[in-house]
Amino acid sequence: AAPTRYEAEGSAAVCAGSLDSNWPGFSGSGFCNGTNSTSGYVQFTVNAAAAGTATLGVRFANGTTTARPATLVVNGSAAQSPSFEGTGAWSTWVTKTFSVPVNAGSNTIRLNPTTSGGLPNVDHLDV
Ligand code: GCU
Repeated sequence: AAPTRYEAEGSAAVCAGSLDSNWPGFSGSGFCNGTNSTSGYVQFTVNAAAAGTATLGVRFANGTTTARPATLVVNGSAAQSPSFEGTGAWSTWVTKTFSVPVNAGSNTIRLNPTTSGGLPNVDHLDV
């Protein structure tokens, strides 16, 4: 099935930072600019039709030249340790995909930054 899109500025997301729209190219009405600290997370509550492996697409921009590592946490358990590399500009958005285990029904998908730079800007999550 076609993925469902969850915007970082949408009602199914929590952004520990600000919802901004000052860099173009985002979907919806903006993006999550998490605080530049390890507490600047973004979390989505998403639905899965069935238990199993889901493909997640995280669209992000990192206008620095330093990668921003994170822990990808699914339903409270660390699933992966992605690193969000520099994309060349804050207005250049890239999608990274991840395969993670999900439950049937509601699931929480969270990115916790692991360095003081925080997360990249996060536009949306496709599930
Ligand atoms: C700049 C940029 C923000 C970004 C921030 C960061 O301030 O304008 O959109 O979130 O850098 O370093 O995270």
